[in-house]
Amino acid sequence: MAGLIPQDFIDDLIARADVVEVIGRRIQLKKAGREFKACCPFHEEKTPSFTVSPGKGFYHCFGCGAHGTAIGFLMDYDHMSFVEAIESLANSMGVEVPRDESDRPAQRYDELFTLMSSVEKHWQSCLRDSPAAVDYLKQRGIDGETARRFGIGYAPDGWSHTLDKFGKTPEASERLLATGLIIRKDNGKHYDRFRDRIMFPIRDQRGRTIGFGGRALGDGEPKYLNSPETVLFHKGRELYGLFEARQALRHIDRLVVVEGYMDAVALARHGINFVVATLGTATTTEHLNRLFRLTETVAFCFDGDRAGKAAAWRALENALPQVREGRQISFVFLPDGHDPDSYVNKHGAAAFIKAVDNATALSDFLIGELASQVDMATVDGKARLAELAKPLLRKIPPGVYRELLVDSLADEVGLATAKLEKLLGQPDAQSGRARPGDSAGLAGRRLPHAAGRPSVVRRAITLLLNYPEEGEKLDVQKLAGVSRPGIDLLHDLIETVQSEPNITTAGLLERWRHDEQGRHLGKLAAVEVPDEEEFDPGMELASCLDQLAAAGRRERVDFLIEKQRLKSLTDEERAELRQLN
Ligand code: UTP
Ligand code: MN
Repeated sequence: MAGLIPQDFIDDLIARADVVEVIGRRIQLKKAGREFKACCPFHEEKTPSFTVSPGKGFYHCFGCGAHGTAIGFLMDYDHMSFVEAIESLANSMGVEVPRDESDRPAQRYDELFTLMSSVEKHWQSCLRDSPAAVDYLKQRGIDGETARRFGIGYAPDGWSHTLDKFGKTPEASERLLATGLIIRKDNGKHYDRFRDRIMFPIRDQRGRTIGFGGRALGDGEPKYLNSPETVLFHKGRELYGLFEARQALRHIDRLVVVEGYMDAVALARHGINFVVATLGTATTTEHLNRLFRLTETVAFCFDGDRAGKAAAWRALENALPQVREGRQISFVFLPDGHDPDSYVNKHGAAAFIKAVDNATALSDFLIGELASQVDMATVDGKARLAELAKPLLRKIPPGVYRELLVDSLADEVGLATAKLEKLLGQPDAQSGRARPGDSAGLAGRRLPHAAGRPSVVRRAITLLLNYPEEGEKLDVQKLAGVSRPGIDLLHDLIETVQSEPNITTAGLLERWRHDEQGRHLGKLAAVEVPDEEEFDPGMELASCLDQLAAAGRRERVDFLIEKQRLKSLTDEERAELRQLN
């Protein structure tokens, strides 16, 4: 869908939108100086750390790190898609959303939600009429009340049961297709996706059904069939059972992440409601963000077999960028052959809770797993352990947690912490970025102790985001030939503010929404910048560029001198060196 709505329309919309009004219509905001404050709607808190800045068109929570523009807020709070959020915003401002392509009617999301809800209800009534399906659930230990809470139903056998009932007009079939409930054949005819399956509705944060998982009653293949990605349903984003958990619990003090629908339902059946399931995918960053907005204590529970271990390791790798002081991440490994469903049915709720309470801490799992891959009795083995830990530790944000982990690792390999830090800090042999003159420079800057002082590139980006109007006079040519992490992003940002003189902070964030590099911009936009008389962001920015240009020149000279030493200078390079010196 990207590209359908013209970028300048989005720029304009975001520049004119009143972020305070959009958010203030949904939660109570209180004025505090130039900004507005509230208790954060994305995590539990008693003192307000959620801040809305009308000037920047931007909100940020100092507690959980949630941040974004008016569009982002609508997406996260009202759970809209990007296009929906734009439509909603435009609608509230009384403007029509133009489309680049031929006049495609806007997706009618409310109609799609209504359809999903009708189908869900219908399948629930089909369950009541199917003794075989009821038997299956009974045999799996699921009682009527739990089935009702999770909205479990049954999609009858046959190729056109759902199609016949809900697709009576061409528009209705289009809606069935858009929600993934039917499939179109090459000849243009349709048939039901879900046939003879137990149906688990997947709900969004507001309890609206956005997709389904369907389990075969017997040994049918595939065992589970899920809704495809649709405008309503994004697998990597959703957590099965989260809505139900929030309904059941007044306060969520921890969450357990399991792998299967049945695991979540079976645990709930046993009164364990703080459970969510990933939908047959690895745990994504989006999942983790969502989890940590609700609680600081997250346990991943995997099957006891090899596949379970491998999945746990993947979850660990994805979780590393999110670890920090206060957050407790742990891993539960059930005995081989068990999953949470079979375990709780065999051993009961208390035993499962005990297993969660005794879960392996992330640090222990990490060190233990690495130690098992090397021979810890030898010096070589210990060196290898440090080597294996290096890329993992790099993912952890600097801070107390990381330091403690390095401490335990140092303990394990019998090195002083400082020595280990030094080992960990050395650039990877294969990183390929190393240039003469770099060894103490670039790589050193990535070290944790240097992290307290943000890099010049980062500083420049932060200033530019906060004061886009100051970018107008910058000489982007100064960055030519400078190679630093983030320099391309800085370059693009300068060009954007120069070609769009009226762009705001929020406008810049929206421009980079779909960009991998842009993921960090939100954080930088929220950095506190001094608000003093004598602070001149324009001068600061210009000075950042000068520093970068100078450093770039120095690096180039070092590089050329090194080449000269190796007697491999070309004539052109020799001339360049003379000129630079
Ligand atoms: P499992 O194979 O571990 O199944 O898949 P399970 O949860 O134990 O299911 P039961 O107990 O046999 O009914 C775990 C999850 O992986 C996804 C589903 O989300 C499932 O819950 N999956 C699995 C699929 O999407 N398709 C499949 O064919 C199998
Ligand atoms: Mn199972």
